Parts: sequence; structure tokens; C-alpha cells
Amino acid sequence: MKKIVVKASRDYEILIENGILRQVGSLIRKVAKGNHAVIVTDDVVESLYLDLVRTSMEEAGFLVDVFTIENGEKSKDIGHYAALLEFLAEKTITRSDMLVALGGGVVGDLTGFAAATYLRGVDFIQIPTTLLAAVDSSVGGKTAIDLRAGKNLAGCFYQPSLVLCDCETLKTLPPEIFSDGMAEVIKYGAIADEDLWESLKHPVWPQIEEIVSRCVTIKKEIVQKDEYDLGVRQFLNFGHTLGHSIEKNSQYEIGHGRAVAMGMVLAVKLSEDQGECGSGCLEEMIRMLERYHLPVWTEYSPEQLCKPMKSDKKRAGDMISFIMLRRIGECFAKKMKIQELENAVIGTMGEAYGSSH
Ligand code: NAD
Ligand code: GLY
Repeated sequence: MKKIVVKASRDYEILIENGILRQVGSLIRKVAKGNHAVIVTDDVVESLYLDLVRTSMEEAGFLVDVFTIENGEKSKDIGHYAALLEFLAEKTITRSDMLVALGGGVVGDLTGFAAATYLRGVDFIQIPTTLLAAVDSSVGGKTAIDLRAGKNLAGCFYQPSLVLCDCETLKTLPPEIFSDGMAEVIKYGAIADEDLWESLKHPVWPQIEEIVSRCVTIKKEIVQKDEYDLGVRQFLNFGHTLGHSIEKNSQYEIGHGRAVAMGMVLAVKLSEDQGECGSGCLEEMIRMLERYHLPVWTEYSPEQLCKPMKSDKKRAGDMISFIMLRRIGECFAKKMKIQELENAVIGTMGEAYGSSH
């Protein structure tokens, strides 16, 4: 079993092991204050893994209730958040009870936000079942729901009490969803770890536990330095400013990872155009994304992409912190005027996409 300890406003363990789903009851028991738990999941994950998790928890003596949402980003909204809070109240969940997020990033973000705000905070456990959730969203305590104006606009920092990751669950992911997670894995290699980047040029399945654990370790190190996203944590948003715009423009039909993939291509192109990184990075990035069947261009116009940036969380006044690549394995944040970034995006996209796509 791989164990990674996160030291933040709340310290917690991330345990990674094939088959760990069968032991979740006893592992959760070690951190639980009470006996009543609500498992939050989505309809797809429910049919695959709920029985296993519920049985394990019941065998460990928990009273278990289940709240199931329809799968997909559209469930990460204020309506489902309100319904979940009402459900917790109906089931008389108290401060010593807990929520268990069983699923991908949508379930994790929604559950975390509900846990953070119900009764001013109850414990929650993350059991990620997508690659994206395993390497990114289950760790670090960002919780959120989407508003009509944009992604993740209501949320807070609230760390889980435990993260339990079973890479066996990744085997049932549709290839497209697995690729979505690979976009975040590629992100870690690009911003922080050239060795990880190189390892992605080899088949991932034989090294999946190692890859998840490497990504989580990078994230933990960043979160420990900057839990509240005031500095280096913003590096994790590489590709996300334009990625979020793409997601929003598609009405969330385009998955987070695919959108981030396109956002990373644009961010590298911008970095090259601004003389911030050497030539060759863009080609490297495109080749890596294509290896994992991720899209490397978007049909949205620069104007469509720039509009949602106005409500980006990384904006302060008319300035935005945009993450640029220095080289594969190193990035930095560049403070830009929104207008300057818009002009750069328009210039970059006109050149890169105007004629070829
Ligand atoms: P998701 O939660 O929508 O899951 C994608 C799909 O995979 C869903 O249809 C789900 O039912 C299905 N699925 C989940 N596990 C499965 C399994 N083991 N087998 C088969 N199908 C399975 O999407 P996601 O990509 O996991 O997460 C995206 C969300 O995460 C976005 O809302 C994004 O904003 C958020 N996110 C949050 C953070 C953070 O730090 N909090 C970081 C990155 C992304
Ligand atoms: N996924 C970005 C962050 O956790 O900061």
C-alpha cells in the first residue's frame, strides 16, 4: 500500500492500493468520529461500486445512507447542492457523522462543498474512481459547485479526512474518461516533473499506481506550500484558464480533461509566442496529448474563449495570473492585464488555428 501524508489545515492520509475498496469500512473506522455516514455517488458509479463500499462500511458498523446524483458536470450545481443539504438534514446527520464521496471529480467537489457547509462542517472522505479524481480533485481540499456564470464559482477550501484510491476502479472507465484524467497527469509532468513526462511515453497501465502516487505527491507538495491558492498552487491551473472557457462554451458537453488539453496547447503556444519558453515545447505537448487521444485544438473563436475569462477566479481587478511553460517540467505565473491576455489569445489563435483547422 502506498501512503502519502498531506500536512495542511487538516492532516490526512492518501492510501493507494489495488483492491482497497474492500477494506474501506475498517480504514474509515480509524478516522471516524461517529457511526452514521452518507455515501454520495453518481448513477454510473453506484451500479459498479456502491455495493462493495456499502457492505464494507456496514461490516465495520456504520449506518449508511446513500445520495445518488445523475452522472455528469450538470449535477455539480446549486440545485443538487441544496438537495444534498436537505437530504443530510432529513437523515439527521450530526457533526460527528461523515460524508463519503464515491466517484469522480463531480461527486467529490459537490460532496466536499456540502460537507464544508452543512452544520458549518462535517468530515468527509474521498474515494476517487476516475483517474482525474485520483490524481487531482480528491486531494488538496478544493470544493465547489458551478454557477450559471462559470465553473466552480461557489466553493471553499475544505480538506478531506482521508483519501482512499483503488486503481482497479480505473479499469472500468470508458476510454474517453480515462483520457480526460491523462490530461491532468500530462499537466503534472509539464509543470513539475520531466521524469514523469518521460515515463508517459511508455504504456501507463503497468505503472498506473506509480503515476497516481507521483502526481499526488507533486500536488501534496504544492498544497503544503500554498493551501489557499495565493501563489504556487496556481501552477496547477496550467491550461485551465482557457480550458474552463472551453468547458463553459460547450455547456459542459466537453469534459474537463479534454478542455484542459486544448487549454494547455494554447498556453504553450502563448508561452512560445511571448518568448517565455523555447521552441519545440508545443510540438512535444501536442505529441503527448495525441498519444492519449486528447484534442489539441478548439473550434471556439478567440472571442468566445475570452468572454468567460472575465469571471475567472484567478482574476484580480483587471489583472489575471496566467500560467506559462518555461520548458517541459517547469512553469511560472505571469501577471497580465486581461486585455493583454485577450490580445495574446487572439493573436495566437489566429496564427495557430485560423487556416489549418
Ligand atoms: P466525473 O466525475 O463527471 O466523472 C466522469 C464520468 O465517469 C462520469 O460519467 C462518471 O459516472 C464516470 N465514472 C466515474 N468513475 C467511474 C468508473 N470507475 N468506471 C466507469 N465510469 C466511471 O468527471 P471527472 O473527470 O472525474 O471530474 C471532473 C470534475 O472535477 C470537474 O467538475 C472539475 O471541475 C473537477 N475538478 C476538481 C478539482 C479539484 O481540485 N477539486 C481538480 C480537477 C477537476
Ligand atoms: N486542481 C487545481 C488545484 O487543486 O489547485
